[in-house]
Amino acid sequence: MDVDDPLLVDDPAAFLAAHRGTDWAFRSRRGLEVLRYDQVWRFLTDRRLVPDVADLLAINGLGETAPGATGLSGMLSVHGRDHARLRGAAAAWFAPARVEEWRPFIRETCRELLGNPAPGTVIDLVTALCVPLPGLVFTKMVGAPAADAARLCAWSDSLLKVFLQDPAHRDEIIEAGQGLEAYVLSLLEERRANPGDDLLSAMLGRHEAGALTDEELIGVAAELLSASTDNTASQLGVTLMHTLADPARWQQLSAEPALAAGAAVEAERLTPRVGYINRKALTDAVIDGLAVPAGTWVRCSVLSGHHDETVFGDPLTFDPGRADQRRSLVFGGGPHYCIGAGLAQVEIEEALLYLTERYPGLRPAGPPGWIQSEVLMSLVSLPVRIPEEIHA
Ligand code: HEM
Repeated sequence: MDVDDPLLVDDPAAFLAAHRGTDWAFRSRRGLEVLRYDQVWRFLTDRRLVPDVADLLAINGLGETAPGATGLSGMLSVHGRDHARLRGAAAAWFAPARVEEWRPFIRETCRELLGNPAPGTVIDLVTALCVPLPGLVFTKMVGAPAADAARLCAWSDSLLKVFLQDPAHRDEIIEAGQGLEAYVLSLLEERRANPGDDLLSAMLGRHEAGALTDEELIGVAAELLSASTDNTASQLGVTLMHTLADPARWQQLSAEPALAAGAAVEAERLTPRVGYINRKALTDAVIDGLAVPAGTWVRCSVLSGHHDETVFGDPLTFDPGRADQRRSLVFGGGPHYCIGAGLAQVEIEEALLYLTERYPGLRPAGPPGWIQSEVLMSLVSLPVRIPEEIHA
């Protein structure tokens, strides 16, 4: 597969579809490219393959210990028992029942963020809601001031550029890593002096019990803070974009709130925030009959797997009630499956429910602004007009 073909930049979905039609895997100068849903899932969940953050940092011109690795040196970079220990320090806070408890806070935060705009007003949902919401939820979860949410979003935006694998972003990533590290240190100090019922205080307890070293505590705290905002903001925006695109669909969601969860999963399928997830083979493996030598870099294409026509009928159509829906690949799989997936899902559902219930006549006020690369999809703007009918 020629990954330097300009079509991969101009229209990644079309480029991947053309290849996917002929086979499920291709060798490229990057390693192995896996394009179909079933195989993407098998590669993501095979324990002989692991996410390889160290290589990712090296590609970006960042040594593992360079400033800037903070936020990228937590649980995603370790495996086996160490991974279980690090993940265990935070896992209880992301258990499904615990995550459900956030629904009222999320709903209330949506209300506060949007306020009471007058009918006819045009607002941009990305800046008014999608970007600030995840940061406000997460600052609350770690016991940080709400005023810090905007800084967190900016650091997250810069740090996630590591996945673009372009050394041009090196300085920006380093600067964000340094800012985040200093912030995490001061936050930990503050929580140590004033412990509370929050995630960071709980992690400090694990650290004091000897389950985490100083470095691990800082790494995991920074990782959680940087991972919690940007991905959720774009995935939420895309869910709103697809549901708003058809007034009948928006109206239907207003009448049937139970459809919100399906709409969120379908938006993840059609327009996943994360376009691919990397793996590296630790040992020689044979997967689905294909030899994968130790050290092979594998790009598991979420974007391509989600459009796989052998699994999804009419894959480029947004259909919240689709009968052939499958588990989303956007949160990865296996031991490193996104710890915040449930929280992100609840945030997206609650924001969608708030908007459809309060504004059943909400309509786009212009085309959305979004950037689709092979790696990341980013929603930039989503203008809407506030309707006459506003529910309490
Ligand atoms: C729509 C929003 C989100 C998306 C698309 C997303 C996506 C991902 C992906 C693709 C991975 C790598 C999984 C793998 O390699 O198999 C991951 C890991 C991770 N995510 Fe998320 N994420 C989102 C939201 C969140 C949130 C809200 C948090 C925290 C509150 C979070 C924290 C993490 C952490 C800590 C990891 C590393 C897990 C591990 O290594 O065990 N993510 N996420």
